[in-house]
Amino acid sequence: MKKLPATGTVEIAPSILSADFSRLTAHISEVAPAIKILHLDVMDGHFVPNISFGPGTIQAIRPHSDLFFDTHLMISDPVKYAPEFVKAGSDLITFHLEAVDDAGAMIRQLRDLDTGVGVSIKPGTAVESLEGIIGDVDMVLLMTVEPGFGGQSFIPESIERCQKLKAMLRKDQRLEVDGGISSSTTADIVAAGADTLVAGNAVFAQSDPVAAIQAILQAAQMTKS
Ligand code: DX5
Ligand code: ZN
Repeated sequence: MKKLPATGTVEIAPSILSADFSRLTAHISEVAPAIKILHLDVMDGHFVPNISFGPGTIQAIRPHSDLFFDTHLMISDPVKYAPEFVKAGSDLITFHLEAVDDAGAMIRQLRDLDTGVGVSIKPGTAVESLEGIIGDVDMVLLMTVEPGFGGQSFIPESIERCQKLKAMLRKDQRLEVDGGISSSTTADIVAAGADTLVAGNAVFAQSDPVAAIQAILQAAQMTKS
């Protein structure tokens, strides 16, 4: 099982939601040299008002990429479908706290599937709701837009939520943010503790995705200096 990059670095995780699905493998290969993590936004049209792709798409791209597949399940029944996404080639599964009755059981199920474990909360869910289980995951994904669509605007209240979450995490756990991340929103959210930056529109919708990744990383480094 691939491991998440150790903490201490800022990683960009481009979301294929904004990629060109008519040439998905090629588009991923274009950015591969510049990243370690690829973000896979799975949407079921029920948990979120949009439908993206299923395990078949992950299975199709898996043989063509050795990137870390960071699968974000924006689905109403992650308990039922997580095994299929692991089998398809995910290296980590992030479920939504709002989509399960028993987060502890979901985490144990993912550990039994020998995959990385992430948990995500929507903008309207209090960060404190993670208190009971936050110690048991590898990464927390803070939604910085209402989940469902790429290209939305970053929600400013996410900065304070990110600071609170950072204080709740151990040094070996990653803090991922997702939605409206670009070179103009990166500095503040990295200063607030985010170290894993999902970017769909700001990368795959650009004419030069690698240059776009470098611009986001540069903005993040500014914070660090
Ligand atoms: C929302 C999706 C998006 C996507 C990134 O449900 O999860 O946040 O990953 O979208 P951009 O970077 O285009 O806002
Ligand atoms: Zn996502």
